[in-house]
Amino acid sequence: MRTVTTAAELRAVLDAERSAGRTVGFVPTMGYLHDGHASLIRAAAAADDVVVTSIFVNPLQFAPSEDLAAYPRDLDGDRRVAEAAGGALVFAPTEDEMYPGGRGAVLTTVAVPALAGVMEGESRPTHFAGVCTVVAKLFHLVGPCRAWFGEKDYQQLAILRRMAIDLSFPVDVVGAPTVREPDGLALSSRNVYLTAEEREVAPVLQRALQAGAAAIAGGETDADVVRRTMAAVVDAAPLGALDYVEVADADTLEPLEVARPDARLFGAVRFGRARLIDNIAASGTGAGAAGPSSTGSDGGSAT
Ligand code: PAJ
Repeated sequence: MRTVTTAAELRAVLDAERSAGRTVGFVPTMGYLHDGHASLIRAAAAADDVVVTSIFVNPLQFAPSEDLAAYPRDLDGDRRVAEAAGGALVFAPTEDEMYPGGRGAVLTTVAVPALAGVMEGESRPTHFAGVCTVVAKLFHLVGPCRAWFGEKDYQQLAILRRMAIDLSFPVDVVGAPTVREPDGLALSSRNVYLTAEEREVAPVLQRALQAGAAAIAGGETDADVVRRTMAAVVDAAPLGALDYVEVADADTLEPLEVARPDARLFGAVRFGRARLIDNIAASGTGAGAAGPSSTGSDGGSAT
């Protein structure tokens, strides 16, 4: 597993690969890799010749009150996970390499406001501009490629897909289904923040979304009723504080008044130090917990 830390070296390596006729797959991450990340690397390795995984805890996407300093890090472990999943290259830049002069020197930001005002954007108003800015930079450094993102962060995927189209990046943005624990909890680097008691209750978020999907499958068309159904599941469980639940258009992310099977159901719940998010298709595709293996994909369509 080759690890590069500078933009110049990354460019040189990937330009050489493309000149030799090989295609590039790209999986951007903030590290502390789990099987959700590994599933993206595996999918990328199946689709392209050379897979680069970036590992960079991007300070621009954390608000001052958030967990930047505490965010878990394990570069050696990450390199092993990336290699086992078929990755060829890890790009692990320093903050100064990504933001010369430090994050405070950055005066240019990239944003997709029409998709970033709702849900996660409402709770974290500066988050998506930080995500777009770093991913735009990473796309420039990596160059022409197919780039993989998880449906776990569905709003992020929708925003980055739009950004790549609107700014003509030579990048094909691809989504992949959420990988879950057997009890339905979506894998997340932030799950390490959960205490044993919180971990036990945490699948309630997924169960709430499933209750919403079941209501729609049962003929409920009033989106407010579906929202209340989902909120009630979270409220009935101990320890979790509901941030939001939403029934939204799967493409525009606009909140809906009329619930439809082609909508998307979203939620965010705070458990102590951990803020967990999840989403499923309102049709129920993607609602299931993992199958027989210890972790599994939820079978949602790659949008
Ligand atoms: P991070 O949270 O490390 O996630 C990296 C990628 O892994 C994202 O595309 C995310 O959606 C995906 N992912 C996380 N958990 C997953 C799961 N359980 N199943 C499937 N995919 C999962 O998202 C970020 O980093 C950052 O915002 C980034 C895009 C790297 C920009 O800094």
